[in-house]
Amino acid sequence: MIDNNKIAIIGAGLMGAGIAQVFASKGFSVSVCDPIEDVRLSLKTRIQDGLKSVASDPSIADHVNVTRDMSEALSGAFAVFEAAPEKLEIKQSIFKELDKIAAPETILASNTSVISISNIAKSVIRRERMLGTHWWNPPYLVPLVEVVPIAETKDKVTTQMIDLLSNVGKKPVLVKRDVPGFVGNRLQHALWREAHALIEEGVCDAETIDIVVKNSFGMRLPVLGPIENADLVGLDLTLDIHRTILPELSKRSDPSPALVKNIEAGRLGFKTGKGFRDWTDEQIQETRTTLSQHLLKTLRE
Ligand SMILES: NC(=O)c1ccc[n+]([C@@H]2O[C@H](COP(=O)([O-])OP(=O)(O)OC[C@H]3O[C@@H](n4cnc5c(N)ncnc54)[C@H](O)[C@@H]3O)[C@@H](O)[C@H]2O)c1
Repeated sequence: MIDNNKIAIIGAGLMGAGIAQVFASKGFSVSVCDPIEDVRLSLKTRIQDGLKSVASDPSIADHVNVTRDMSEALSGAFAVFEAAPEKLEIKQSIFKELDKIAAPETILASNTSVISISNIAKSVIRRERMLGTHWWNPPYLVPLVEVVPIAETKDKVTTQMIDLLSNVGKKPVLVKRDVPGFVGNRLQHALWREAHALIEEGVCDAETIDIVVKNSFGMRLPVLGPIENADLVGLDLTLDIHRTILPELSKRSDPSPALVKNIEAGRLGFKTGKGFRDWTDEQIQETRTTLSQHLLKTLRE
C-alpha cells in the first residue's frame, strides 16, 4: 500500500540530507538509506543544522528514519529519490535493486547532476515510473528542481512528481529531453569551460574571472535570464555579437589542462586549501557564510 505522505531517499550525504529536510519540514514521513554507518549516525545532526540555518524547528529531524535497509526505507513510499555518488555503475545497480523491491506505483527518481537518466535506467524494467529530479545544493534553499522524464516515463508520473515538488515549495521545471547535464548544468558548465580556457590561455588570472562575473552580468542574473537579456538588448545586436565572438570561444570537449594540472598537484579546492585560487580557513568559512546568507536573503525577499 502506497502512502502519499511517505518519501524514501537513497544516500544520506549532502543532497540526501537536504532533500530529507525539505520533505520532513512539510510533514512527510521520510526514510533515508545509506550503507555507511558514520553517515547514518551523523544524518540527524546534519539535518538539525540545516533546519537551524533557516530558523526552523530542529526537532523536525527526529521524524526522519535512517536505515541501511533499502526495503525498509522503500516500504510504502510514494517516491524514492536516489542521491548516491555520481558514478554510473553505482546508480545503475541501485536502480536495478529499486526496480525489484519498490511497490509498482512508487516513483523512482535520480538526483544525478549530469548523467543521462535513460542510461541510469538501463536495467530498470518498469521504466514508465522512472525519471530524473535534479535538485540544487542546498535543496532547502535553492528552489529549482529539473524534472527529466525518459522516453518511457508515463505523463501521469511526471505530473505527479511536478505536483509533489510544487507542494513542498520547490520550483519544478520540465526538461523535455533526457540530455546529459539537463538545462542548468549545461549552461553552468559552458561558462566554467570558458573560464578555465581564459585562465589556461593566460588572458586573466583566476581571481579576475570571479571579479568580472560578480561585478557585471552576474549581478543581473537573479532578475534577468539570458533569453530575457537577449530580447532586452535586441536580437539584432545579439546576432552581430555572436558572429564575432562564437568562433573565438572554447570548443574543448575534454576537461581543461589547467583543471587536470591542479588536481595532479593536490590542489582540490576548499578541501585542500588550494585550488585555482589559494584559500585560508577564514576565507573558506567567510565564503560559505556569505553564500548561505545570500541564498537565505533571496529566498525571504
Ligand atoms: N553536491 C551537490 O552540490 C549536488 C547538487 C546536485 C546534485 N548532486 C548529485 O547528487 C548525488 C549525491 O551527491 P552528494 O553531494 O549528496 O554526495 P555525497 O557524497 O555527499 O553523498 C552520497 C552518499 O551516498 C552514499 N552511498 C554510497 N554508495 C551507496 C549505495 N550503493 N547506496 C546508497 N547510498 C550510497 C554514501 O555513503 C554517501 O553518504 C550525486 O549524483 C551528485 O552528482 C550533487
